[in-house]
Amino acid sequence: MNKLYLWGIIFTALMLVLTYLSVGGSEGGLNGDIVNMLGVAGAVALVLITVFVVIGYVRQMQEATADGQLADEQWDGIGEYLNDSPMGWSIMFFGLMVWGMWYFTMGYPVNSYSQIGEYNEDTAAHNAKFEAEYASITGSRLVEMGESVFLAECKICHGLTADGIDGKAADLNSRIAANSVKHAIENGSNNHLLGSEMPMPDRNGLFNSNTGALITDAEIDAVSKYVANGMKGAGADVFAGTCVACHGQDGKGMDFVAPSIATFTPALVTNVLNHGKKGAIGKMPAFKNLNAKQKEAVGAYITSLSK
Ligand code: HEC
Ligand code: HEC
Repeated sequence: MNKLYLWGIIFTALMLVLTYLSVGGSEGGLNGDIVNMLGVAGAVALVLITVFVVIGYVRQMQEATADGQLADEQWDGIGEYLNDSPMGWSIMFFGLMVWGMWYFTMGYPVNSYSQIGEYNEDTAAHNAKFEAEYASITGSRLVEMGESVFLAECKICHGLTADGIDGKAADLNSRIAANSVKHAIENGSNNHLLGSEMPMPDRNGLFNSNTGALITDAEIDAVSKYVANGMKGAGADVFAGTCVACHGQDGKGMDFVAPSIATFTPALVTNVLNHGKKGAIGKMPAFKNLNAKQKEAVGAYITSLSK
């Protein structure tokens, strides 16, 4: 028998023994499990095919001789045949070039794994879970949730007890301080507090219908204290003459006309969070990273503070 075939058979037998040792010995191995049997059969087929294909090539290398026309050039005695490049190879060559350009400019950058992408997907999935879980909570649970949001997001400016840290931000334990009311009257207000563009006129647009004249400095002082004082005390007449038409008898505002300046409402807080606010104290940033439920919750918490 040809020496090559002998080596082939020895190699095959060796591979089969090794396969059996590695698969057959394991628990529930060859005897019990048809999947293992199929695996081993596949391995055997692969070994046989590999061995005989290799034998075929080796024989070809031993026996075949080259033919065809040689090119003129020689490199240290090594020549080159003048064969056309095979059509399939050429197509593949150009195809791969096109594919390579697509892959490096589009395919890889767009589809590849990225940590940021994974983080964004995880965050989106977590947020969806969170929103589903908390979509329907109300009442004291909503207020508790709002307190957590407040401690995480708002405490840094408004303080642990929401007192505004000595005027650094608004004191949220009462609706509004006198200097903020004064600022709104003198300069007008345009902070989307109703959710839409609905500005309040400045002092040049505010008439006191009791006196029939523009609001005066003294009246501004009085009405500011009146509002800050929870709609009580002196200044009631100025309020009735100038502010009631928009803010209502009790200062609780009217839909689409003016916001409540007597109490906080979740809707008002949500509008402040959506658009930010500029006022007497400074600038309150908008909060794009909170979802609607979190805004509603922190609104409920702030509303609960002044009660
Ligand atoms: C023409 C209607 C109108 C009149 C009159 C009016 N307001 Fe307003 N006021 C508004 C509107 C609208 C807003 C909300 C503006 C905004 O989105 O910033 C507002 C906002 C305010 C704010 C700001 C609230 C905050 O949270 O910053 C205060 C304070 C206020 N008004 C007080 C008064 C007082 C006091 C008077 C009477 C002297 C008065 N307003 C008269 C329409 C009016
Ligand atoms: C970077 C500091 C800062 C952070 C953080 C901050 N605020 Fe404010 N906030 C302010 C300032 C300053 C004002 C006062 C703006 C003014 O009227 O001059 C204010 C005002 C407010 C008002 C009063 C609006 C009105 O109409 O009177 C509300 C409500 C409010 N903040 C809610 C929140 C909530 C809820 C959070 C957390 C989600 C928060 N703030 C986080 C700085 C901040």
